[in-house]
Amino acid sequence: MHSQQSISQWTALAVMILACVNWVNAHTIIVYPGYRGNNLHTNGSVEEAGGLGSAYVNDTTIYPYGMQWMYPCGGMPTSTNRTKWPIQGGAISIQPGWFQGHATAFFYFNLGLGAIPPNMSNPMLPPFQIIGPSANPYPGTFCLPQVPLPAGLTVNVGDLATIQVIETAKHGAALYNCVDIEFALPEDCVKVTQDNCFNSSDIAFADIYEVNVTTSAAPPSLMAPGFTPISFVTLITMLFAGLLI
Ligand SMILES: *[C@@H]1O[C@H](CO)[C@@H](O)[C@H](O)[C@H]1NC(C)=O
Ligand SMILES: *[C@@H]1O[C@H](CO)[C@@H](O)[C@H](O)[C@H]1NC(C)=O
Ligand SMILES: *[C@@H]1O[C@H](CO)[C@@H](O)[C@H](O)[C@H]1NC(C)=O
Ligand SMILES: *[C@@H]1O[C@H](CO)[C@@H](O)[C@H](O)[C@H]1NC(C)=O
Ligand SMILES: *[C@@H]1O[C@H](CO)[C@@H](O)[C@H](O)[C@H]1NC(C)=O
Ligand SMILES: *[C@@H]1O[C@H](CO)[C@@H](O)[C@H](O)[C@H]1NC(C)=O
Repeated sequence: MHSQQSISQWTALAVMILACVNWVNAHTIIVYPGYRGNNLHTNGSVEEAGGLGSAYVNDTTIYPYGMQWMYPCGGMPTSTNRTKWPIQGGAISIQPGWFQGHATAFFYFNLGLGAIPPNMSNPMLPPFQIIGPSANPYPGTFCLPQVPLPAGLTVNVGDLATIQVIETAKHGAALYNCVDIEFALPEDCVKVTQDNCFNSSDIAFADIYEVNVTTSAAPPSLMAPGFTPISFVTLITMLFAGLLI
């Protein structure tokens, strides 16, 4: 029932947005708690920008590869319309499958502190992977109802911050999307419901494990000059897909 309703909402939104943007391979929408604004834009040409991701041409900024590729917030400046978000952490709901290329994707949720955060270097969760239904654009949402604050951080009602959502494409490049928040008591925040926070059945999750492989007998060809076999440490990120939840 509600998934059908959500799909038709998605379709309506998709038609609306796709009508005004070029077809590019990217992108996320932050359903809850919202986003700085629609940054599903691509304009100008790579030649005009001299190969840069953005350039200032004829008194406007162009994004020939698409705005969402720009660190830290997909080309969007800090907004004035802040959303209230709980002081003990809360829900983050994402539509990951706009446009093609996200059969799988890694997600990172970070927090930047202050009105205009100096950085977004405070992870809220370890990265995780989603597995979508196909490499084509797909509808659907996933939602983590209780994303915590970064470890060791406490905040007060009224403190300002920005939540940064990063989705990596299969080639490793990252898409950025942000929402500016003001910390508030849970009862003062937009209520989390089955309509704004649910998991579509065709999006699965996988954990990402970091395995510290320390070898004392690595082949010499793998070593940079000055490295001894004892100090050769490789961190291999291994994906255990199939841990469907
Ligand atoms: C903030 O305003 C922009 C522009 O009107 C809008 O697209 C966006 O959804 C708003 N964000 C929030 C969190 O209200
Ligand atoms: C900038 O102006 C030139 C000359 O009018 C025009 O050819 C070009 O398309 C413009 N580029 C953009 C991105 O507006
Ligand atoms: C390109 O898109 C950006 C972001 O939407 C906009 O600010 C800018 O005016 C656009 N430039 C042109 C030449 O369309
Ligand atoms: C990031 O910003 C925080 C303040 O939000 C500051 O304490 C921290 O030193 C900064 N970290 C880096 C790596 O710049
Ligand atoms: C969606 O799935 C994730 C991973 O299993 C889970 O942590 C989260 O609670 C689920 N969200 C909802 C709204 O049930
Ligand atoms: C990896 O393991 C080695 C040997 O146990 C240890 O010295 C090193 O600190 C570890 N690195 C990380 C990042 O955990």
